[in-house]
Parts: sequence; structure tokens; C-alpha cells
Amino acid sequence: MQTLNVDLGDRSYPIFIGKDLLNKKELVEPYIVGRQVMIVSNETVAPLYLDKVKSMFANFDVHEVILPDGEQYKNLEVLNRIFDALLMNRFERKCTLVALGGGVIGDMTGFAAACYQRGVPFIQIPTTLLAQVDSSVGGKTGVNHELGKNMIGAFHQPRCVVADTDTLNTLDDRQLSAGIAEVIKYGLIRDVPFFEWLESNMQMLLNREPTALAYAIERSCQNKAEVVAADEKEGGVRATLNLGHTFGHAIEAGTGYGKWLHGEAVGTGMLMAADLSARMGKLTEEDVHRVDNIIDGARLPTRSPVGMDYEKFMKYMTVDKKVEAGAIRFVLLESIGKAFITSDYDDALLRQTIDTHHAST
Ligand SMILES: NC(=O)c1ccc[n+]([C@@H]2O[C@H](COP(=O)([O-])OP(=O)(O)OC[C@H]3O[C@@H](n4cnc5c(N)ncnc54)[C@H](O)[C@@H]3O)[C@@H](O)[C@H]2O)c1
Ligand SMILES: [Zn+2]
Repeated sequence: MQTLNVDLGDRSYPIFIGKDLLNKKELVEPYIVGRQVMIVSNETVAPLYLDKVKSMFANFDVHEVILPDGEQYKNLEVLNRIFDALLMNRFERKCTLVALGGGVIGDMTGFAAACYQRGVPFIQIPTTLLAQVDSSVGGKTGVNHELGKNMIGAFHQPRCVVADTDTLNTLDDRQLSAGIAEVIKYGLIRDVPFFEWLESNMQMLLNREPTALAYAIERSCQNKAEVVAADEKEGGVRATLNLGHTFGHAIEAGTGYGKWLHGEAVGTGMLMAADLSARMGKLTEEDVHRVDNIIDGARLPTRSPVGMDYEKFMKYMTVDKKVEAGAIRFVLLESIGKAFITSDYDDALLRQTIDTHHAST
């Protein structure tokens, strides 16, 4: 097992990464507050792992709430079911929520924990690659609105993160690739040696070779932990973690939540960000090819969905959280491993980027 630390003063917390962690009660017990534990999961993950996770909390008063599965349920209405369960079971302020699932469950449980009685502790048990390398770390929580992705939320850090790599065995290939998109992101924004490692080892990841996967998860969490420790509330450098997300969030909202996986949308979004960077004279064509190759090699889509034309992208990108004083703020690349943020872009070039990547059929 590897233990990494997210360094946030008195809100610091560990990330445990390894095999067979769901059998280790002693790992989570120090992080549980109160006697009451509410496990939040969904209809897909609960049949696979709920019993195991319940036994991790066997010494406590454990309840569960099982939500429907899918990004289309990451909204206020479904969130309310968590509050219903907490209140119906008379959960006190001293209690612990546990997120068991992918990023959707993690974001919703974290937000419920941020709101319930103005804030209660929670633990993340991420079960997708995407959640293990990204969403379970850093304390961003929330739900979607029809008009914009993750528009309602709060910063609320977990007490600990337990990433059991064995849970990835039940993930399908499409979900695996979606997680790899966020892994690639760390290489692109700040870690050239990792990007090069990914260029050489992509097939090992796709084959789920355990040591390669474990390395990718650790290195990703290390990158995320460093960025979050430097800028918890996204005043500056943390925004670079949104590479590809301005385009990606527009794809998710514009096609209807759940059609494209978050990681798929981010994969295409990173390609579009690289393309726009090159059109603005910041990134070389050669680097754009490397980005293209790695996204394609991870079996991620390289074209935005049919119907996502310039007007549709603009409709969603202009309500993105990264908009400031009406201007879209893009995370772009000046080289592989170096990201920058700008709202100084040429609309004609943006249009070319969108048109070039638009799937025709
Ligand atoms: N908070 C953050 O910092 C942050 C960062 C990145 C992404 N996100 C959010 O995370 C979400 C995407 O997360 P995701 O890709 O994990 O999607 P997800 O939570 O929808 O999970 C993907 C699918 O895999 C299933 N699943 C989960 N674990 C499984 C397992 N072990 N075996 C089999 N099936 C399993 C889920 O039920 C779901 O059908 C988006 O809503 C995105 O906005 C948040
Ligand atoms: Zn993301």
C-alpha cells in the first residue's frame, strides 16, 4: 500500500492506494467521527462492493442510501434522497458519510456532507479509475444544473481517501479509458516525464497491468495533491486542472448528461485545447500530434459529437465557471508539460478549432 498526503494544514488527509484495502477496517477507523455512518452508493456499485464496505464499518451504526446510476442523476432532486435518509435515520451532526462509487457518487456525497447540518465529515472510497486519480481528491463537490455542469457545489475536503485498485477489475473498458483521460491531463499540464511514460506504457494501462495501473494512480494523485495543496480554492494554479474541461463540460451538457462520459468529453476537450493553442502560435504542430496520438491511443474519441457546432459550444462555454467578466477563460498549452490560462483568444481561431473537431456523421 502507498500512502500520500494532501497537505492542507489542519484539514490534511491521507490517500491510501493499494490492493485489497476494502478488507482493512483499521485503515478507516481513525477517520470516522461519531457512531453513525451513512454509506452512499449506486445501483451498479452497491451489489459489487457494499457488503465488503459495510464490514469495514461493522463497529458502527451503519446505514446506506442507494442512488440511481448515471451523470443524469447528479442533480439537486436526487441529492435530496441523501438528506431524506440522514433525517429519517436521525443522523446527528457527529456522523460520517461514506462515498462508495465513481465521481458522480463522490461529488454528490461530498456535497451532501458539506450541506448536512452545515457540514459533517466524509470519507471517499472511489471505485473508478477517474475517481481514484482525480475526483476523490481535492474537495470539489457538487451537482449539475441543466444549464451547466457542476454549477451548484462547495469545497469540502474528505477525511481520507481509500483507493482499492482491485475495484477496477469490474470496470468496463470505456470507463477505464475515461479515467486515463484525466491521467494524461497531469502529464500535459505539469509532468513531462509522466507524459513520456504514458506514451510508452499506454498499452499496459489498457491491458490493466497491475503495476502500471498502480504507478499511474500514484503519480496522478501526487500531482493532484501538490496542486490542491498549493491552491485549494482555485485562485490560480488549480485552474490548470481544468485543461480540456471548458470544451468537455459543454459536450457533456450539450449532448445531455450521461451520453458522453466525463473523461471522454475531457479527452476530446484536451485535443481541442491543444489545437487552439497551436492556432494561437503557442504550441508546435509536433506537440499537437503527440496529444492527438495519446488521446487516440487511449481509445478516447477525437471528434466532438454531431450537433456540437460553434453556436452550441458557445451556449454552454459562456456559462462555465471559468467565465470571468463575460470572457471564457481557456486553459491552453505552451508546451507539453506547461499550461497557461487566458481569456485573450481570437474568436475566429476558436471557431476553426470547433469546426475542425466536429464529427460530420
Ligand atoms: N470533484 C472533482 O474534482 C472531479 C474531478 C473529475 C471529475 N469529477 C466528476 O466525476 C464524474 C465522473 O466520474 P466517473 O467517471 O467515475 O463516473 P461515474 O461515477 O458515473 O462512474 C462511471 C460508471 O462506472 C460505474 N462504476 C463505478 N465503479 C465501478 C466498478 N468498480 N465496477 C463497475 N462499475 C463501476 C458507475 O456506476 C457508473 O456507471 C463527473 O460527474 C465529473 O464531473 C469531479
Ligand atoms: Zn475532470
